[in-house]
Amino acid sequence: MKCGGCRQPAVIDVRRHNAAFCGPCFVRHCREQVRRTIHDLRMIAKGDRVLVAVSGGKDSLALWDLLLDLAGDLSIEVDGLYLGLGIGDYSDESGRLARRFADERGLRLVEIDLPTDHGFAVPEGAKAARRAPCSACGLSKRHLFNQAALDGGYDVVATGHNLDDEAAVLLGNVLRWDGEYLGRQFPVLPAGEGFVRKVKPLVRVGEREMAAYCVIRGIDYIVDECPIAAGNKHLAYKEVLNDLERRSPGTKASFVSGFFDRAHERFAGTAAESREGLRPCASCGSPTPGEICAFCRLRSQAGSARAADASRAAGAPVDTPVAIASPQRRDRAAEPDTHTGPTDRGAANPAPDPIEVNR
Ligand code: AMP
Ligand code: FES
Ligand code: ZN
Repeated sequence: MKCGGCRQPAVIDVRRHNAAFCGPCFVRHCREQVRRTIHDLRMIAKGDRVLVAVSGGKDSLALWDLLLDLAGDLSIEVDGLYLGLGIGDYSDESGRLARRFADERGLRLVEIDLPTDHGFAVPEGAKAARRAPCSACGLSKRHLFNQAALDGGYDVVATGHNLDDEAAVLLGNVLRWDGEYLGRQFPVLPAGEGFVRKVKPLVRVGEREMAAYCVIRGIDYIVDECPIAAGNKHLAYKEVLNDLERRSPGTKASFVSGFFDRAHERFAGTAAESREGLRPCASCGSPTPGEICAFCRLRSQAGSARAADASRAAGAPVDTPVAIASPQRRDRAAEPDTHTGPTDRGAANPAPDPIEVNR
């Protein structure tokens, strides 16, 4: 197999492009794909300050690397943001790799640690709120990405969602015909009152390509998947799509690009409506349809559960029930869309969940 660009031995083939590449040509190819996506969808403007959400995984570290390469041409500033989610060894290792990437290149990495800064880890927050962990995780990420960008004066948050992520989420949204989620599934979410712009510059590149990019560029990333996400529906959708892609290369790309180009517009109104009439959260100021935003409710539920546990451990009677204001409206549009996991709704939730999670 020879590289289509320079005829040197190829190290990767991309079947949907019917092309093979050597290392340097592949890196140029990825850079060009991302540059074109940013340009075509007007994701980033000259002079923007970009905050890349880095999880320590291949996609977000590759994205940071790619944006740094493009930073000169685009005249942008690019920093990283890492959230410690308190998921045991997985969080320790992912944080270490994000820090290492930044340190080795002398980059600025903004860090927020959920347990230290907000008093709870994802697993305990999820348990206290009786939500699926991926759902509590996704809602925390969306809130904290936006808040960190606002606090740091960034214009845009970039996440590493790739073509496989988008195809899997799209399949889930279509299987449920969820109009609001479909309306919000787009690689650029514009800024609004209390929201920074959100972009996904990797929507045209596949997961396998990003793994190859990291290997070629010598980027060390966490290979393990989040232990909590194992077995969720999102991963099952990915398997189904991989099978279709094997039989018919290009299926994922045409599914996703067809939706963005021809169908998304039909659902956009529903999503726009849900951003109307938001007001600042009484606790943190984030836009919310209710009194208190979903993230502050989650934090409060986790705090109450922890206090109850401490009283129990001390042998004192627990007399304070966990009291959380119930929101008037579903609070999903209030927070920008990023997470890929939580198409799994909170199975433990007996009642319809008011803070439904998008992605
Ligand atoms: P996920 O929500 O885990 O599918 O990840 C999607 C994207 O969200 C990643 O590519 C990152 O850009 C971002 N992300 C996920 N986890 C973190 C984290 N702990 N800290 C910062 N960004 C993250
Ligand atoms: Fe969010 Fe695993 S990273 S639940
Ligand atoms: Zn709040």
